Formats: sequence, structure tokens, C-alpha cells
Amino acid sequence: MPLSDGFLQELKDRNDITEVASSYVSLKRRGRNMVGLCPFHGEKTPSFNIYTENGSFYCFGCGVGGDVISFVMRIENLDYIDAVKWLAQRAGMNMPEDGYDNSMSDLRKRIFEANREAARFYYNNLYSKNGRIGLDYFHGRMLSDRTIRHFGLGFADNDRHSLCRHLWSLGFKSSEIVAANLSYQNENSISDRFNNRVMFPIIDLRGNVIAFGGRIMTDAKPKYLNTSDTPVFKKSSNLFSLNNAKNSGERKLILCEGYMDVIAVNQAGFQNAVATLGTALTSEQALLMKRYADEVIICYDSDEAGQKATQKAINLLRNAGLLVKVITIPEGKDPDEFLRTKGNKGHDAFKNVIENSGNDVEYRLQKLRNTYDILTAEGRVAYLTEAARILAALDNPIERDVYISKLSKEAEVSADAIKQQIQKQSRSRFYERRKKEFKAIRDNLSGRGDRVNTEHYKKPRATVAEEGVIAYLVKNPDKLGKINSRLSPEKFQTEFNRKLFEYFSERIKNSEDALSAVSADFTQDEISKIYQIINSESARMANEKTLFENINILNDEFSGLDASDAGAASIDSIEAELRRLKEKHQ
Ligand code: GTP
Ligand code: MN
Repeated sequence: MPLSDGFLQELKDRNDITEVASSYVSLKRRGRNMVGLCPFHGEKTPSFNIYTENGSFYCFGCGVGGDVISFVMRIENLDYIDAVKWLAQRAGMNMPEDGYDNSMSDLRKRIFEANREAARFYYNNLYSKNGRIGLDYFHGRMLSDRTIRHFGLGFADNDRHSLCRHLWSLGFKSSEIVAANLSYQNENSISDRFNNRVMFPIIDLRGNVIAFGGRIMTDAKPKYLNTSDTPVFKKSSNLFSLNNAKNSGERKLILCEGYMDVIAVNQAGFQNAVATLGTALTSEQALLMKRYADEVIICYDSDEAGQKATQKAINLLRNAGLLVKVITIPEGKDPDEFLRTKGNKGHDAFKNVIENSGNDVEYRLQKLRNTYDILTAEGRVAYLTEAARILAALDNPIERDVYISKLSKEAEVSADAIKQQIQKQSRSRFYERRKKEFKAIRDNLSGRGDRVNTEHYKKPRATVAEEGVIAYLVKNPDKLGKINSRLSPEKFQTEFNRKLFEYFSERIKNSEDALSAVSADFTQDEISKIYQIINSESARMANEKTLFENINILNDEFSGLDASDAGAASIDSIEAELRRLKEKHQ
């Protein structure tokens, strides 16, 4: 049995979506809606809308939408029941006794508990006889016992079953231990995942241990082993030590490459360091950082791989709307090595490095300058052309001007010539973007871009009419009878829309709110699609007349009378899309 409609409606009433979202997004009123920069993709002009009238959100940029529950699911990385619990707690409501399937939520809880016990076990190992080599290893890398405790570092010994045995003795089931990826299944037994490694627990923003990284103490491969993705852990959307960094009190983060770097930087007195979890930076992680910082200082290794990764990270972070600075470690390969060579002067030395860090543009121009020989004419032309490309991407005209005058002096070329080059680049960037946007809209309208309703492109006219009917029904549940008397579900040409029509009709028939259980009953992509349909411009302008037109279209299409004005139904939405596009480019 699902959660009762009454409970869900109260939950939504008491968690106003505008209030909930505004702790993550800064929102401005625009007409009846609120708009802001989407927290689910990087953008510079706001496409994220909140529709207060139906308590939902939809982003035109990335096509993500839903109600307040799906918003929390996405932004807090929770499954449905945990998002409901999160909101209930926020509003001071009790969860009903039953009425929901708690099994996934229970498993997640058990995984958190197993991970916590494992972290304790690894930490205690470190200070036992068995763990001596682990402790020596950390001490050899200049970590103090205080730092070790602060990060909860540990040691996984050589015995392939010691953690399993320990967790069994505490009442954990093998299935839970395997689900946590602390062990893996052999033919007829299970073995610990981590052996003979020093351990780094990864802790989320709520203080849960969600995963581990384990480093081998020799030159053997692989150097690091990390927890694979589990029901509580996705490596692409978490950051090491963000739980510490978010409390640093400044909206500034230092992004390092590795666990050891973060720890060494912390030990030197900088709490705001984070690292990815053994993979390249993702846009999800960039957006996560944006929630806690306005500025990110990239501090990757000074080897070639680190420098390549820096260029990529600059783009991702900028796209997420962050200010970006880049540190180039002067001596040694990475921050950890640098700090080790400085001993107790580490803090001041690193502070100095941070203060001398250049911003991302300077960093890129510097890299370019090292690539070309600006003493030759060809070198200079190539350098300036590339530099213009970098400057063309800057939104801030003052910032641009600063670099133009720098470049002009340095390369002894007039500022005007550089400006012209930048303009040329900007124009082509602009057209590239426009072309992409138009293509996206075309794909959208033809249905080719529709990942959820895969029959859309085969039946564009019917699909649009179906969506019109669905949107109207959801907004005017009292018209169900009227609609039913003129249109039956089999007139729907696309299966997804037919399913929606039946779903909403059924709920309305049972006197339930049409939308209150959408987040429970559909996948994330389907939820987004549903809220696209009900918040579309044409849905907003729908009235009884457009409803009847849509019903007629569906009846026509069903009886094979392919009307000559095929596509007429979509004119509305084409116009709406074009209006939106115009607004965006004003
Ligand atoms: P130390 O060598 O102990 O100083 O560690 P480091 O953090 O400096 O390592 P490195 O710069 O080589 O790698 C940076 C990060 O990449 C590490 O912290 C890991 O998260 C990840 N990484 C490195 N080697 C491996 C590997 O073999 N497997 C996986 N999955 N991740 C790795
Ligand atoms: Mn290192």
C-alpha cells in the first residue's frame, strides 16, 4: 500500500517548494513564477523555473522537473522514501506507521551502520600490533595522530575475512556486507574487499561513512582501491572531505587530486580542501561545490596529467558559475610533497602559494605563451588567435579589457586588432550556440529528442494533442467526466501518454490529487517529462476550446483521417519555444 494521499498532500503543503529550493538556488520572481540558475546543470542565464501554482519545478536547460519530493531526491541524492522522510522531518511531521516499502531505506541504513563499524574497526587496527606497518606508513608520511583521528584513517590487515567476521559478530548479514561493497562474494563464501592497505573513509555531508579508499603501502598496483558504487555511494557525485570543508567558514574550496593532498593541506591548517574520488571531476561535483563555495582554487599535480586535468576542471567549474583560480606548485609534484619539504613552515608557504595563485584566464594564457614562440611572426599570430578564443568566452567586458591591454603590450599588437579577433571568435561562438539551441528545439518539436515518450517522433501531431489533454486534465480534474465522454484511452497513439492518461484519470476518479504520488510512481526521467507536459507554455494557455481541438485531433488520427494540416497542433508550442528563445537572447 502506498503512502496515503492525505499525508502526501499535507507534506507538500507544509514544504513549500519555493522555500525548500531557495536554500540551494537563489530565486527571483518573474511573473507568477520564480526563476534561478539551475542547480542540476551549469548555466549562466536562468532556465530553472518554479511554478508556485502547482508546487513544481522545471528547467528548460536540462529538462529536469518534478515536485518538491523529486527536487529533494535529486539535490540531496536520496531515494523516494528517504526524501519523504527528509521533508517530514523538515516540517515536523511524523511518518505514518505503515503504507510504504521501507526495504531500500532499511538497506541503506544498514550499509551506513556497517560502514561506520568498518571505519571503527580499521581505525582500531591501526593502533593494534597487526596495524603497526599502517601506522608507521602514515607517520612516515608526516601525518600526526591528531590528523589520523580527525580523518578516521585506518588499516585493513592481511586476513581476508577479519572484517567479515567482525561484522558478523555484530549481527550484520553477509548480504548487507556485500551490498556495502566491504566484501565481495566468492563461490561459496565472502572475502573482504580491502586487504593490506591503509584506509581513508569517505564521509558525506550528514556525517555518514559512505565509502572507503584504500592505498597499498608499496609500489604494487593498483595504488588505490575504492568502494564501487553502492546504494549509498556514487563516486561521481561525492567529494572527499567536503564534510570538513563546508564548515571552514569561507565560501572558498581548494580542489586537490588525491586523498593524501587533502589531508596534508588540512594538517597545514587549511580546512577547505576537497578531492574527487579517483576519477576526473564531473559537472555534478562542480555543482555540488557551487553550493558551498563561490571560488575554487585548483591545486592539481604539476605533472602533465595534472595540468591536463586542470584545463578540464577550469571549464567545468566555470560552467557551474564558480570563480576559478589555479595554483601551480612550485617545487615537488603535489601539495602533499610540497608541504612535506616545508616541515613546520608549511602553513605560511602554502598560504603564500594560494595568495600568488593566478585566475584561470591568466593560467591559460600562461600555458599558451609557453606553447608558442612569440618572437616569430607565426608564433605571435597563433598565440594571439588562441588567446582571443579564450577571451571571447569571458562574459565580463571589464575583465576582457584588462587582458586585451596586457596582450597588446606583451605581443606589441594594437588593442584594436586583438578586439577584432575576439569579436570574430565571439560571433562564431554565438552562432554555434544558436545552432545548437535551434537543433535542440527542432529535435524537441519533432519528438526526436524525447527520451521518455519514444513514439513521439513517429506521431508528433498526436503526441502534442495527447499532452494537451493530459495537462488540461491535471489542471481541471473536475472535467474528467466531460473528457471521458468524448475520448477513450485507446484513442491515445503513444503508449506513454496513454499510461499517463489512465493513471491520472484513475486517481481523479478515486478523489485523489492527480500529482501527489507522481514522484513515487514514475522514474526520474518520466517525472521530468510529466512536469514538462503540465508546465509547458501551451498547457498554461489551454482552455476548453483547445481541449476540444486536441480531442478532435486524436479522434481524427485514430480513424485514420490524417488531417491535411498535420502539425497544426504543434504551432502553439513552436511559437512558445521561439518566444522563449527570443527572451533568452535579449
Ligand atoms: P600518494 O601517492 O599516496 O601521495 O597519493 P596521491 O593521492 O598523491 O596519488 P595520485 O596523485 O597518484 O592520485 C590521485 C588520486 O587518484 C588518488 O588520491 C586516488 O583517488 C586516485 N588514484 C590514484 N591511483 C589510483 C588507482 O590505482 N586506482 C584508483 N581507482 N584510483 C587511483
Ligand atoms: Mn601524492
